[in-house]
Amino acid sequence: MQLERFDAAAFLRDTWQRKPLLIRNPWKDWHNPLDPDELAGLACEDAVESRLVTMSDKGYALENGPLAEDRFATLGTRDWTLLVQSVDHHVPAVAELIEPFRFVPDWRLDDVMVSYAADGGGVGPHFDNYDVFLVQGLGRRRWQLGARCDDATPLLPHDDLRLLAEFEPVEEWVLEPGDMLYVPPGIAHNGVAVGDDCMTYSIGFRAPSEYDLIEGWTDDILDGLGEDRRYADPGLPLQPNPGEITEEALSRLHETVTRKLADRAAFVRWFGRYNSAPKNPEIEWGPENPVSTEEVRKAIDAGVAIVRNPASRFSFVAGTNGDVLLFADGECFECAGDSALFAKALCAQVRFVPDSGLARNDDALRRIARLCTSGSIAFAG
Ligand code: SIN
Ligand code: CO
Repeated sequence: MQLERFDAAAFLRDTWQRKPLLIRNPWKDWHNPLDPDELAGLACEDAVESRLVTMSDKGYALENGPLAEDRFATLGTRDWTLLVQSVDHHVPAVAELIEPFRFVPDWRLDDVMVSYAADGGGVGPHFDNYDVFLVQGLGRRRWQLGARCDDATPLLPHDDLRLLAEFEPVEEWVLEPGDMLYVPPGIAHNGVAVGDDCMTYSIGFRAPSEYDLIEGWTDDILDGLGEDRRYADPGLPLQPNPGEITEEALSRLHETVTRKLADRAAFVRWFGRYNSAPKNPEIEWGPENPVSTEEVRKAIDAGVAIVRNPASRFSFVAGTNGDVLLFADGECFECAGDSALFAKALCAQVRFVPDSGLARNDDALRRIARLCTSGSIAFAG
């Protein structure tokens, strides 16, 4: 599934994070990748995050999954929607839907949420903190867009749903299969199924909040600190007023804090690990027994492709002399030479045949074996 009538560079320059955009069927070969029954099946599984939103004259109600199989028979033909999170982690055909959107860096991607709605179903007017591409898979959905919102925008008093107290649509379209709508963070929106069998795929992105970044980074710094390193002031000058905290003392104190916080190399390693931590670690690909370097060598010699666990996250940071730091599922690997080339190939492609020369590189074999043992990757078949 490739995008055809779509200019990614122009989109990033003019639209990304700035304004909504309706894109009518831009695909070369669009087909809906998931059957509604399969989606319903996922919503009944413990390991899958799902929600059911129903509408009645009392307003919207939320039920969190897993749902009982017989729940669907009681729902009726109108005004409900099922939403299933991270479907790309469970269904390879849905994971393929991410590929056309990789003009945005992988580290910004969150997951693909899939919704199924009966006629009139929707989650109500709301805003999200993330960018999203809403791709219509089956049936039709009316999307209305409203104003830009923020933390001060009034919400309805609701225990479970963050619904807008007021929603004034300023634009409206009905999306058909293959159409998509890009919605930047903070824009009010409301999607309502028009007719039955309405399926929508939300390719959702993420952006770390300042709070999470600072909390995570300082926690990591604290993990490496003991209580023994303390403020020291040998040669303490005599001061006229013992009640003063002097400039000199303050400079030393402030420097202690900022030196740690400003350690960019340590920050890079922490951020790569933090950002690549798996969202669904229970989607286990790891084999029962550790994979040996010998097994890896044989698979490379035989030209077997490497595939990434769709629930795993990969990224790299380029260093000097072609070295890279590879981040996979919350771990950091320092890679040089052929291992670095392998790391870049792994970050670029979800499936690829590794270079045959790696079979003679013990360092690369060890890394690949470790990634196989942890379940981040596997040899096809
Ligand atoms: C959907 O109903 O498929 C999307 C929900 C949303 O607007 O976030
Ligand atoms: Co939304």
